[in-house]
Amino acid sequence: MIKLPTDFSLYQVDALELLRGLPDASVDLIVTDPAYQSLEKHRVDKNGKNRGRIPRLVTWFSIFPNERFDELFAEAYRVLKKGGHLYMFSDQETMFIAKPKGEAVGFKLWKPIVWDKKYMGMGCHYRARCEFVLFFEKGKRKLNNLGTPDVLKVPRILGGYPTEKPVALMEILISQSSNPGDVVLDPFCGSGSVGVAALKLGRRFIGGDTSEVAIKLSMGRLNDALATSVQNSDAA
Ligand SMILES: C[S@@+](CC[C@H](N)C(=O)[O-])C[C@H]1O[C@@H](n2cnc3c(N)ncnc32)[C@H](O)[C@@H]1O
Repeated sequence: MIKLPTDFSLYQVDALELLRGLPDASVDLIVTDPAYQSLEKHRVDKNGKNRGRIPRLVTWFSIFPNERFDELFAEAYRVLKKGGHLYMFSDQETMFIAKPKGEAVGFKLWKPIVWDKKYMGMGCHYRARCEFVLFFEKGKRKLNNLGTPDVLKVPRILGGYPTEKPVALMEILISQSSNPGDVVLDPFCGSGSVGVAALKLGRRFIGGDTSEVAIKLSMGRLNDALATSVQNSDAA
């Protein structure tokens, strides 16, 4: 069984294995950004070949197949405390696959929150400027700021870890659905943006990723975030 951290812990492990190792009702909040299957279409053409014109994506991370979402939701539901929230990043294809699977295990999809990245990205058939964050609830818990809109405007990250999300965006979600000292989990942590936001806000963090590069990067960023939050509390 995984022990809950006093500040943070990181594991290079499959997301389901990490979840299976956590006790029932041990986590206050899950904020996560899985490597969902439809991301693959940005990387390979219809014949399965890497798209040479986007060379950076050739070294992209591996994908988490849609069939595994049933167990992912079941485990997420088990480890969350009653009233806990799950925020899951998604595109328009994955949203329709995730909703019934999440609701089958007991979550309620309250609504997709729109992340407005403020600048257009790739594509030409309405160029992409937004992404969705599916807001699932395990029972009822009041949000901490009832005046927050369902469109969050935070500029995208350019040139970071593939699909890296801004810490400022994660701070909004974490502030809304947890309190200082709470445990925040991200089993697909990538570069560690959820963890950095969690530590900045005085929460504890558990992160996992199958990629060695991601875990090394997260470790560096989380140690920096922890050192900064300790300095800030010493100065106060
Ligand atoms: C979309 S990225 C997360 C990016 C992250 N939100 C950030 O801001 O950097 C998804 C991550 O899931 C990881 N991943 C893929 N399959 C996984 C699995 N089965 N278990 C855990 N992590 C996995 C990838 O290595 C990748 O780092």
